[in-house]
Amino acid sequence: MAPDKTHRKTPDTPIPVWEPSLSVRNAKLDEQHITLLALGTYLIILIETHPSSNEQIRVVLKDIVSLSREHDAIEEDVLEENGCPSLAEHKMAHETARPELNDLLHDASHNFVDKAVLTRVITEWRSNHISEYDLPVKEYMKMKPPVASPSAVDGPGTDNTPQHS
Ligand SMILES: [Fe+2]
Ligand SMILES: [Fe+2]
Repeated sequence: MAPDKTHRKTPDTPIPVWEPSLSVRNAKLDEQHITLLALGTYLIILIETHPSSNEQIRVVLKDIVSLSREHDAIEEDVLEENGCPSLAEHKMAHETARPELNDLLHDASHNFVDKAVLTRVITEWRSNHISEYDLPVKEYMKMKPPVASPSAVDGPGTDNTPQHS
């Protein structure tokens, strides 16, 4: 049977595995997406396999929250700089996810983790956002080449996707 290549999921979690078809053609944003998906997958596995690991869950969730904050800010800056017409809607999608993640992190800091809610939020959050919000505007996520000498105009800054084999 031919493998389904449409945004593969890991066998045990509903979080997609990053693959070149998820690239937004911006090396920095792609690297952050890769890390966020990996952290999300790890968190879901942790919840399922170590039900009493609140402290570990808190540590991973904290990493997810801080990297998401950094990632969303960079992404919004790039979209704004490139004149993305749906920037406001995109920002809203980022902002909608933020309070829920912050609340979950706050709870985890007080040794309370609602694993069902956390699983749902993490799953819905990154598994959908990249394909539903980021990919449709990837043309606006390219880093602009630095204003420099004429020889740099068509340089690598326009499409700096990491080369994952
Ligand atoms: Fe986004
Ligand atoms: Fe993103």
